[in-house]
Amino acid sequence: MNGVPRAELIATERLRLEPLSVHHAREMVPVLAGTAIYRHIGGTAPTAQELAARYAGQSVGASPDGREAWLNWIIREQGAAVGFVQATVAVGAPCPTAYVAWVVGEDFQGRGIATEAARALLGWLLPRTGGPVAAYIAPGNLASTGVARKLGLAGSGQLDEDGEELWRSATPAG
Ligand SMILES: CC(C)(COP(=O)(O)OP(=O)(O)OC[C@H]1O[C@@H](n2cnc3c(N)ncnc32)[C@H](O)[C@@H]1OP(=O)(O)O)[C@@H](O)C(=O)NCCC(=O)NCCS
Repeated sequence: MNGVPRAELIATERLRLEPLSVHHAREMVPVLAGTAIYRHIGGTAPTAQELAARYAGQSVGASPDGREAWLNWIIREQGAAVGFVQATVAVGAPCPTAYVAWVVGEDFQGRGIATEAARALLGWLLPRTGGPVAAYIAPGNLASTGVARKLGLAGSGQLDEDGEELWRSATPAG
């Protein structure tokens, strides 16, 4: 992969994935409210201020040392924000692994939104990276492993220091 890819608008039949910006913070607060979202990923619902600070960092598009591209999108359905997807990719490496994650607000879950958004993300990402796709998922997070399976990822049995399992595609990702 040459250079740092920038997130671009991605459209699917139902959804629009909008490159993340600080102005999304306010409307994302209610989407990320509640406790169920954090059961497997940890943390708590952010305030508008916390989210604005987080989005200011993430929307720069790269880590401070320039080694990683940070690609973030808000998922929009019929105009309303419903969740987000993100990818982290090493810059300058040939065929780097894209580490992806997905979150859909409690009110919008169970309707295939994460699967549709993540598929579109991979469709955009893979021609740019040419490498495999991976996600760290807590054992027992059945909704997330359900999404990963639909994307063609498989559990590797390898756990990170937080006890999350590495799910990955064969190389190159399909
Ligand atoms: C994981 C998450 C993004 C899934 O969002 P979603 O839009 O509801 O997912 P989808 O509707 O695309 O579901 C995909 C598959 O997951 C499975 N699934 C979804 N919800 C499930 C649940 N509560 N229990 C078990 N399996 C579930 C199903 O197999 C589903 O496939 P199906 O349509 O054939 O039934 C959402 O639950 C979420 O945001 N969870 C909290 C944050 C999180 O854990 N993120 C993942 C970090 S790795």
